[in-house]
Amino acid sequence: MSWTRKHLITLEELSLTEIDQIHATAVAFKRTLSRSVKKVPALRGKTIVNLFLEPSTRTRMAFDMAAKRLSADVISLDGASSSTTKGETLRDTAQNIQALQADMIVLRHAAAGSALYISRILDIPVINAGDGAHEHPTQGLLDTFTMKERLGSLHGRKVVILGDILFSRVARSNIHALVKMGAAVTLVGPSTLVPLWFTDLGVKVSYDLRSALADAEVVMLLRIQHERQLSGHFPSLGEYTGMFGLNKTRASWLNPKAIIMHPGPINRGVEIDSELADGDRSVILEQVTNGIAVRMAVLYLCAGGQPELVMPTE
Ligand code: CP
Repeated sequence: MSWTRKHLITLEELSLTEIDQIHATAVAFKRTLSRSVKKVPALRGKTIVNLFLEPSTRTRMAFDMAAKRLSADVISLDGASSSTTKGETLRDTAQNIQALQADMIVLRHAAAGSALYISRILDIPVINAGDGAHEHPTQGLLDTFTMKERLGSLHGRKVVILGDILFSRVARSNIHALVKMGAAVTLVGPSTLVPLWFTDLGVKVSYDLRSALADAEVVMLLRIQHERQLSGHFPSLGEYTGMFGLNKTRASWLNPKAIIMHPGPINRGVEIDSELADGDRSVILEQVTNGIAVRMAVLYLCAGGQPELVMPTE
């Protein structure tokens, strides 16, 4: 089947076939990244604008790296240095970027729905690099890619997502992808941050950390999203860490083969202790590295490429 999608806005709207196509294309691109010449000419002559109106380290740099590995020209614009600080709207900013002849926009924005909004206004492809607490599709794709590399098929695999689920776009994107891939997902955390209505998405909700961890083949930690919480959802960070932080004792409840994931940024000593974040079971930096190949696949496909082609080196 061919790839027909111009934008990547959510994983909710992607089919399992489309997720597999992105992963298969990322496998091909990952191979090119271990060559002595890492660049491929796939997007030569194209200009990609990374419009990051909310802070980012990993996503922004991985999109920069991915576009450069595809031989595209890349321009990055962040909120503090853009005319949004003078009152320019997202609509005007996006239309001006298109008028400047960009071929694609990668958008990170604090508002849920922002990427969908500009995709309906513009003629060029729009890639969602995180819209508020809604979705972070490329993070969900790189996380599931990393799980597949480690575990093979995710069908029937037990994945625990632990932390601030309510305000997490990473959790939502992972849930949509993992459920389509047949994984058994359990969400764990304080009831104020893991409401029961998440079960409508096809996952389990548990407030019993020990039994959830005992079953898990993957545990994904999420940080507390202070920037999105309008009121306290638990008494203090210390109390959260005391009840739900992953420490050595709680990690001993895990199957020894279970892997530990985190999308970053990590708050060491809050949701995860340093010795676990840096330990043998952690795949946190593998996730970051895989973010390049997965984003190369997304940029390439949304620019009109087709899945699973092996790229010649430049
Ligand atoms: N995982 C993630 O989105 O990290 P950044 O906010 O640093 O991009």
